Amino acid sequence: MAILASGSGSNAANFMAYYRDHPCISVSLVVSNNASAYVLERAREAGIPTAVLPGPMWEDSRAVLSLFDRHRVTAIVLAGYMRLLPPYFIRKYPNRIFNIHPALLPDFGGKGMYGMHVHRAVINAGVTRSGITIHLVNERYDEGPILFQATLEVQPEDTPETLATKVQKLEHKHYPKTVENHLLKNHTPV
Ligand code: GRF
Repeated sequence: MAILASGSGSNAANFMAYYRDHPCISVSLVVSNNASAYVLERAREAGIPTAVLPGPMWEDSRAVLSLFDRHRVTAIVLAGYMRLLPPYFIRKYPNRIFNIHPALLPDFGGKGMYGMHVHRAVINAGVTRSGITIHLVNERYDEGPILFQATLEVQPEDTPETLATKVQKLEHKHYPKTVENHLLKNHTPV
């Protein structure tokens, strides 16, 4: 699999550790749109090849797809990746692109709903539950089929920051495992 991330990459690091000694799945490439993203440093430390693909480079579909093919990528994990993927790329990996959202979709999703914006919106709405949603990516982004959700109770004393910490724990616990289950169930030899 390839991991695409734009920022610090705590989920990416968690995937690299989870799949390090896996018998049939590995992280073979880490891609960022942002050359200074900390996730690239984490990948280098883990000995995993990296690539930087800023927005305009995605227009060259042949070059992009050949990069992923060279690393024998058959699945894509988005881990805090802040750009939309082009349709040719989504078509190349049908039902094999995963995303995680730090709330219970379909609520608190869509444009502008990322990072602390999500947790602030959850607290401001006064809802009693939040959680994570792991879903497949199709051309409508946050609307792809949901594979897994885990919930937690929002406590009256929670702030966006405390909620973010709790949600991140859930992400680390469930994201690699959910992707593994899906890939093993839908395995096609390459
Ligand atoms: C996570 O909260 C995830 O839900 C969202 O982006 C964030 C990435 O965080 N899609 P990190 O860089 O993995 O710490």
